[in-house]
Amino acid sequence: MWSSCARPCFVLLFGVLLGWLTVVTETWASEPRNEPVLPIPTCTAMDGEKVRLGKRLYHDVRLSANNSVSCATCHPLDGWGMDGIPVSTRVDGVANTVNTPTVFNALFNIGLFWNGRVTSLEDQIEEAVRVEMGATWNDVLRKISQDESYRQSFARVYRGGIQAVNIRDALAEFERLLITPNSRFDRYLRGEDQAITPEEKQGYELFKKLGCISCHQGVNLGGNLFHRSGIFPRQEMGQETAAAPPEPDRMAVTGNKEDAEVFKVPSLRNVTRTAPYFHHGQVKTLEEAVTLMARGQLGRIISVQERDLLVGFLRTLEGTLYGECR
Ligand code: HEC
Ligand code: HEC
Repeated sequence: MWSSCARPCFVLLFGVLLGWLTVVTETWASEPRNEPVLPIPTCTAMDGEKVRLGKRLYHDVRLSANNSVSCATCHPLDGWGMDGIPVSTRVDGVANTVNTPTVFNALFNIGLFWNGRVTSLEDQIEEAVRVEMGATWNDVLRKISQDESYRQSFARVYRGGIQAVNIRDALAEFERLLITPNSRFDRYLRGEDQAITPEEKQGYELFKKLGCISCHQGVNLGGNLFHRSGIFPRQEMGQETAAAPPEPDRMAVTGNKEDAEVFKVPSLRNVTRTAPYFHHGQVKTLEEAVTLMARGQLGRIISVQERDLLVGFLRTLEGTLYGECR
């Protein structure tokens, strides 16, 4: 019996072994790297109907007092989620004191706004409508309710129909779609060796060696802790005056004196696309921002070559807009 099976059995066994080896080596090759940076998930689960409604609201000027701005005015989606100017102006004509952060990947941050004063997208929308857009919910609800197509959409998605809580919910659901997965660096983290060049890898090693990683880490390379801006003098951080400007810092949230000039460490995802930089928006180029960071946060004077290596690495963080689960 055995002798008649010997050759085919051996071939079969050999084949099975080869197959197993291939599977094992492939698994090894695509093993995620053990690094202090995590890739953005390729898809965030969402409710399609709510997302469509949220997207419409996001672009609707009726959420503002005089129908002049929508969320997209300051956070244009084709502009990587921010307006590209140092500071924007609110509907009431008052200039904001801080640079507009991007809406992309905001859901991964521990808190929202530069000082993290709110911790949910819904609460953030509440403040945006009131402060940035100068509107009251009574006004917004009246305008939105006059629109038959909104009445129908809300009735389909929410039992309560058009209500402030449902507007916030739909908008927040849409914001959860705003992620930028599959950057070259994420592909590298997932095990694709060739996704970044040797120079870019050198830039990442330098980013870790210098200590940038101690503040810029996790999914967003930032967004997960608060830190003083400019451990070294203010002028070193690109700020003209030594006097404290009226920006809302972490002290406004905690009331602790040691939180003066403390901000949420910003995300470095797509940072090549989100100039100008820092909470004051006074720094125009990434080269300058990186040099100031080394000096201001780490007390290091870096060479032009080191600066370019760091910027090269930061370029690999550019992802593709939106997830893959639409
Ligand atoms: C007039 C410009 C303007 C408008 C309109 C506006 N925003 Fe903003 N947005 C800002 C500014 C400025 C900040 C930062 C404020 C701060 O940190 O104190 C901000 C912060 C945010 C953040 C926090 C990001 C983070 O990671 O901290 C999100 C999310 C956001 N806005 C979403 C929205 C949505 C949704 C709307 C519409 C309901 C909206 N914004 C309308 C200017 C605007
Ligand atoms: C001690 C914590 C800390 C370290 C270390 C650190 N950063 Fe930062 N980084 C911050 C904080 C806080 C801000 C926001 C500063 C502000 O807006 O005033 C920031 C802002 C930035 C920005 C601007 C982002 C934007 O969207 O405005 C870049 C770029 C940056 N850091 C890169 C680096 C690089 C490169 C290194 C290493 C050379 C580094 N950082 C080291 C805390 C740190």
